[in-house]
Amino acid sequence: MQYRTVGRTGIKVSSLCFGTMSFGGNADKETSKAMFKRTREAGINFFDCANMYSNGEAEEILGECISDCRDEIVLTSKVFFPTGKDVNAGGLSRRHIMLEVERSLSRLKTDRIDFYFVHKFDATTPIEETLRALDDLQRQGKIIYPAVSNFAAWQIAKALGISAKEQLARFELIQPMYNLVKRQAEVEILPLAESEQMGVITYSPLGGGLLTGKYGVNRKPSEGRIVDQENYTKRYGAQLNFEVAERFTAYAHEHEVHPATLAVAWVMAHPSVTAPIIGARNVEQLEYSLAALDIDMTSKWRDEISGLSITPPPATDRTEEAL
Ligand SMILES: NC(=O)c1ccc[n+]([C@@H]2O[C@H](COP(=O)([O-])OP(=O)(O)OC[C@H]3O[C@@H](n4cnc5c(N)ncnc54)[C@H](OP(=O)(O)O)[C@@H]3O)[C@@H](O)[C@H]2O)c1
Repeated sequence: MQYRTVGRTGIKVSSLCFGTMSFGGNADKETSKAMFKRTREAGINFFDCANMYSNGEAEEILGECISDCRDEIVLTSKVFFPTGKDVNAGGLSRRHIMLEVERSLSRLKTDRIDFYFVHKFDATTPIEETLRALDDLQRQGKIIYPAVSNFAAWQIAKALGISAKEQLARFELIQPMYNLVKRQAEVEILPLAESEQMGVITYSPLGGGLLTGKYGVNRKPSEGRIVDQENYTKRYGAQLNFEVAERFTAYAHEHEVHPATLAVAWVMAHPSVTAPIIGARNVEQLEYSLAALDIDMTSKWRDEISGLSITPPPATDRTEEAL
């Protein structure tokens, strides 16, 4: 296993992070523990979680898994999405963050979370309030670093500016979606991360299952997240995505690599990505993503694979001059 430093933090993490969104959901406790064991055997020390995964059960299970190795694990959790029906049971207010961090710590059975993510932008709470709450949590030792997911680049840049001006702990790690059919991060997020020396862990390297070989132009499995979950059907349902999946699967077979392995390796090879976050519902699925660790992705290979999907346009229309 290769270990990489997260941005400018000094924390070293495995080049794959394991996501626990399936824990307590489509992976029961026994399967979740088996996956955890397998990832540890592979050398993974980095685990992604969130307060809302399986209504807190993912944190409970992960807490049990890490009970005898907590100090060797780099742990994340997240806050934003509603955890109840109450009008204040969500968002990035100081009130909600302070309440939720205690609940996460208790479910994870630990006294600190290494990277604590704000899960989504909250347009109704001033970002100063959120940043000050995170800064207080860092001073209290309950979180080691604030981190950010699903924000636009301008929102992250604005937050970094406020943190610098107010001398508050800044976001040190970004978690965007990134895979062969969702490449928006290439335009602004990944260049921002490089410019500001931030770590990047990207989620959904397989497009929620789209890039595993089981989807194509006229092919869908009878069960799977993209057919079973409405938000994923919406996210990946465009015909073009299935065309890319078809081309990508053919390319992977031609090169005698499992599509899931190749899809993770493609994400991993981006120079700004610290680690892709892999996800699975059982150990068998997990093996194909872990196999990405053994792929030597040349730049020629990466370019060819990138050519199978649409490269997003640059962030400015004025691109004709060299300088
Ligand atoms: N910050 C955020 O907003 C956010 C959002 C999403 C995820 N995440 C994090 O990122 C992690 C990974 O995300 P993800 O689960 O979306 O990743 P992904 O790798 O794109 O999708 C994983 C899914 O693909 C399918 N799959 C995996 N391996 C397979 C194989 N070999 N053959 C066939 N199907 C296979 C399984 O779903 P089916 O069996 O149902 O097809 C599995 O649950 C999550 O656990 C979570 O920690 C964060």
